[in-house]
Amino acid sequence: MSDKVGVLFVCLGNICRSPTAHAVFETLAARHGLSEKLLIDSCGTGSWHIGQPPDERMQQAALQRGYDLSYLRARRLASDDFDRFNYILTMDTRNLADVMKHAPDYYAGEVRLLLDYAEEKNLLEVPDPYYGGEEGFERVLTLVESACEGLIEAIHRNHA
Ligand code: 4NP
Repeated sequence: MSDKVGVLFVCLGNICRSPTAHAVFETLAARHGLSEKLLIDSCGTGSWHIGQPPDERMQQAALQRGYDLSYLRARRLASDDFDRFNYILTMDTRNLADVMKHAPDYYAGEVRLLLDYAEEKNLLEVPDPYYGGEEGFERVLTLVESACEGLIEAIHRNHA
């Protein structure tokens, strides 16, 4: 692992939820003066959208809240991600199981659900918005913003 603290967000397609978490967390990291200390990325467990920018609907909703996702491109989880990232945060339990399946025995980082870091403790997963309406994308943003706040505070505490 490098000197930086690696944070990887994982969903299924890497075109809706994890790129949103990626951009929201980058914004928060900059606000906390932590950009130089962190390596931030996102990926998907599936391969359908490799090389594509985030979903247009997700980009539009994110832009309304000030997050530009247009520079991101989808990629798939890779074996060397376990060498580079200390925190691997998944959007739902299916992503979590898929990541765990690929994690080598020696991995000493943390694989867990992103919403473990949200203030609201009554929801486990960031629901997949891909086949739903506009409100699904708003929900992704609200949940991700809340959890990323908790995550940045935890990283601040653990890596001061
Ligand atoms: P994401 O959303 O996992 O949040 O990027 C999805 C994007 C695409 C598909 C499923 C979920 N798909 O089935 O193509």
